[in-house]
Amino acid sequence: MSSTVDSAGTNTTGIPEFPMPRAAGCPFDPPPALRELQKETPLARVRLWDGGTAWLVTRYAEQRALLADPRVSADITRPGYPSQAPRQGGSRLSFILMDDPEHARLRRMVQAPFTVKRVAAMRSDVQRIVDDLIDDMLAGPAPADLVEAFALPVPSLVICELLGVPYTDHDFFQENSKTIVRRDSTAEERNTAMMRLAQYLDGLVGQKLADPQDDLLSQLAGRVQAGELPRDEAARMGVLLLIAGHETTANMIALGTLALLEHPGQLAALRETDDPKVVAGAVEELLRYLNITHTGRRRVALEDIEICGHTIRAGDGLIMANDIANRDADAFADPDRLDIHRQARHHVAFGFGVHQCLGQPLARMELQVVYSTLYRRIPTLRLATDLDRIPFKHDGSVYGVYELPVTW
Ligand code: HEM
Repeated sequence: MSSTVDSAGTNTTGIPEFPMPRAAGCPFDPPPALRELQKETPLARVRLWDGGTAWLVTRYAEQRALLADPRVSADITRPGYPSQAPRQGGSRLSFILMDDPEHARLRRMVQAPFTVKRVAAMRSDVQRIVDDLIDDMLAGPAPADLVEAFALPVPSLVICELLGVPYTDHDFFQENSKTIVRRDSTAEERNTAMMRLAQYLDGLVGQKLADPQDDLLSQLAGRVQAGELPRDEAARMGVLLLIAGHETTANMIALGTLALLEHPGQLAALRETDDPKVVAGAVEELLRYLNITHTGRRRVALEDIEICGHTIRAGDGLIMANDIANRDADAFADPDRLDIHRQARHHVAFGFGVHQCLGQPLARMELQVVYSTLYRRIPTLRLATDLDRIPFKHDGSVYGVYELPVTW
């Protein structure tokens, strides 16, 4: 490898590339090279797709410290931000990529429906959605693809209802959000998908302005009318919520089911329990163990930061690899073991700090309903193919499976 010097003045020879590949046959475990780095050092330089470098933060304690540090920015437009893939144009996915006070101002506008109390009131609706989809699946032919028949429709139906997006448009928005979260999409493809979704949401905001309903987009339209929010920002917030609301949870449903099918003792314990606390604990443990947001939380330093004997310079990119933080032995005993009875709620699968997942009460409730219903209603559920034939989302910024053929 030839020796080059990057813009940060670092000799890039020998610097490992990030992201790293998972080991063949270990679809639930983080890449072995990443685990090695974690053992060696809390902070390492890694090389990114564009040849630049960033600090990879490997351990749980340092990740939480930096994610909570106001000297660290989530603003993707700042020089040095370690973006996951080529970007084009200035369009960004709303407040998830902004800093306070603007981030907090926008987040507050949409947080009400995601509170624990409001989410609890939605539980019986979600139970009905889950039961109906299982009825349909059982009435149809086996084998079936669990992703298409169940994992994707559950959170899509829920977020559509909450936002006021017609579910009949699901092919359109699922296809475009898939393009946005694929790491191998070109900048142009990603931009086009983002534009299509923003136009679509803008159209819906327009409809809600004329004819408000009892949904979140109508509330945002009300803010637009009151002059508190530009209409294009309302549309981008709608895009963020629509994508975040279904992509992540859908992957947790399918990948979580696969992980349980591969750990039959854990699956049996979950199927047999009547205790909602055990189900809730299983959800936390699967979130920790699978950590589907596997490309790390991305940030850029606003000032020089001293940590663990290293100096992170202002303008340096940071990647908090939360998948290995969730497997850090200092935070979780015997971290590579899936154990639904462990206390795992302090995991960082929802991130940490001011950007910690807004939708986590909803995601938790959806997963609790799914995991406590699916395996009880279909006790003979099993894979309809070999593990090594399942297409994993190695190329996605959210990890999971593209298809999960199951039978019963
Ligand atoms: C199992 C499912 C989910 C997982 C694993 C997940 C994970 C995450 C993570 C790791 C972050 C932090 C991003 C960062 O720090 O850069 C985040 C933020 C966010 N999530 Fe989720 N999420 C899930 C479900 C949802 C759902 C159902 C919604 C509902 C709309 C949602 C909406 C959001 C939003 C709006 C943010 C940005 C928060 C902010 O920047 O203040 N998520 N999520």
